[in-house]
This record gives sequence, structure tokens and C-alpha cells, in this order.
Amino acid sequence: MPALKNALAQWRGEDERIALVPTMGALHQGHLTLVRLAQRRADRVIVSIFVNPAQFAPHEDFKTYPRTFAADVRALAGPGADLVWAPNAESMYPGGFATQVVPEGSAKAGLEDASRPHFFAGVATVVAKLLIQCAPDVAVFGEKDFQQLKVVMQLARDLDLPTRIIPAPTVREADGLALSSRNRYLSPAERQAAPTLHRVLADSAQAIAAVASIHSVLRKGRQTVEGAGFILDYLEARHAETLAPIASIREGPMRLLVAAKIGKTRLIDNIGI
Ligand code: PAJ
Repeated sequence: MPALKNALAQWRGEDERIALVPTMGALHQGHLTLVRLAQRRADRVIVSIFVNPAQFAPHEDFKTYPRTFAADVRALAGPGADLVWAPNAESMYPGGFATQVVPEGSAKAGLEDASRPHFFAGVATVVAKLLIQCAPDVAVFGEKDFQQLKVVMQLARDLDLPTRIIPAPTVREADGLALSSRNRYLSPAERQAAPTLHRVLADSAQAIAAVASIHSVLRKGRQTVEGAGFILDYLEARHAETLAPIASIREGPMRLLVAAKIGKTRLIDNIGI
């Protein structure tokens, strides 16, 4: 903490704009694109690396989540982050820790929250702490985690945090698969099937934009995802701002969101219409 406090005091003293990019490490080009976007919006960029135990359920992959700290620090030398903030779990959640931020609204949209009921309280609590610790002018979050992005924007508004939340577009492999720290869990056969998610989103978006029935487009999309070997959690059309169900593109900007498991790996993706 003293290193963080000293750096913040010095930068603020020089009237520099500060950006924060929160991550759980295992950094890939998606994360590094967030860092480069942060650099364009601020003079100094802090990247936090913290695998947040509070957002994993007991049966989830907290223990096996990839931890590649040395490689992460090397990767951050590329875009040139100014500071890596990597607190440990004991300093973030010391004995007696008793406060949680429990978001509602888009956090209860029936998407990620349906399969991961405690996830957004874990995310909102740690993001609130990171935003308070670093007090950045801006913080960058990826559209890859679209529901999370909405929850964080609402959190910053509701708690009067002085940080502007900036969304960053999803970075993909050449075959469309969204980059994710969890992609390294995929077997070669699963990796081959994985781009189906993006393909179905893109095809469905095109069909819906051409005013095909949302209901039948999604039904066909769900079949394709399951046909590729996934266990589907959801493939849904939602209002892009509120994440409320939406019946037609005339009702506002739309987002298609998908989550599905292949083997042991759960993947999510989304696309705008
Ligand atoms: P993590 O999964 O490490 O992601 C950190 C940030 O990178 C998030 O804002 C996420 O949306 C973004 N990101 C991930 N993959 C991306 C891609 N392919 N393209 C663009 N951005 C991408 O999300 C978390 O960590 C945690 O929940 C966190 C917010 C750090 C709280 O613990």
C-alpha cells in the first residue's frame, strides 16, 4: 500500500490524470488493449492484478485460475503500465471483514447471475475497493464481460465515485473466439468448437437486423451451440442499456449474450445489434 499511496500522491501533486485497469492477471492481448486505451485517456496507468476469492463460488475455479504474475509484469512492459497494484487476499479481506456491495438492477438480469448468484456481489465489492484505493479519474472495463460492465457503471453512479468508467471493445482471435484467460483450459477439440459462440452471435445479429423473428433466430442459435458440444446456460436478446428482455430492435439498442460450457470450461460472449 505505501508504494501505491506514494505514487498516487506524487502523480496527483503533478496534476496528472490517473487510469485504472482492474484484472485478475493471466494477461492476454484483450487486457493489454485495455491498458493501451487507458494510456490514451490518462497520463498514468495502474493495472491491478488480484484473483478475487469473493467472486468465485466454492465449486468454481479459484484454486486453478491461472496465476502467471512474472509473465504478466513482463507483458505490461510492452504497453508500459506505470504501476502494477497486486494486493494479497489478507490485505483486501483481513480478518473481521464484514462489508459487501450487493448490486441489483442489471446484476439481477437473469444472465450470469442465474448460474453465479454470488458473482456480482464479489465483483462489486472488490471493484469498489480498488476504485477507492486508487481513486482514478478513469477506469477501463471490457465489453467482453458485458453484464459486469453495466454493474460497474451503475456502481460508480450510485456510490458517487468520481471515476469515469470507459468501455473497451472485445478483442478476438482470428477465428472470432473472444480472448479469455480461461481459453487456456480448452483441449484442442474444444478450442476448435469454441468459435461457434461468436459465429452464432454474429449470424443471429445479422438475421435479427434483417428483421427475422428474434424468437426463432435464438431457438436456431441455441440448437447450433448445443450441436457443437456445449452445455448452454443462455443465449438471450436484451436491451443494451438495461439488460431487460427486449422483443424487437425497434425497442432500442440490443445486445445478444451467450454463456455455455464446453468440457469443464465456461465461456461467455456478446455482440451489439
Ligand atoms: P478479468 O477476467 O481478468 O478481466 C479484466 C478486464 O479485461 C475486464 O474488464 C474484462 O472485461 C476485460 N477483458 C477480458 N477479456 C477481454 C477481451 N477479449 N477483450 C477486451 N477486454 C477483455 O473481469 C475481471 O477480471 C474481474 O471480474 C475484475 C473486474 C478484475 C474484478 O475482480
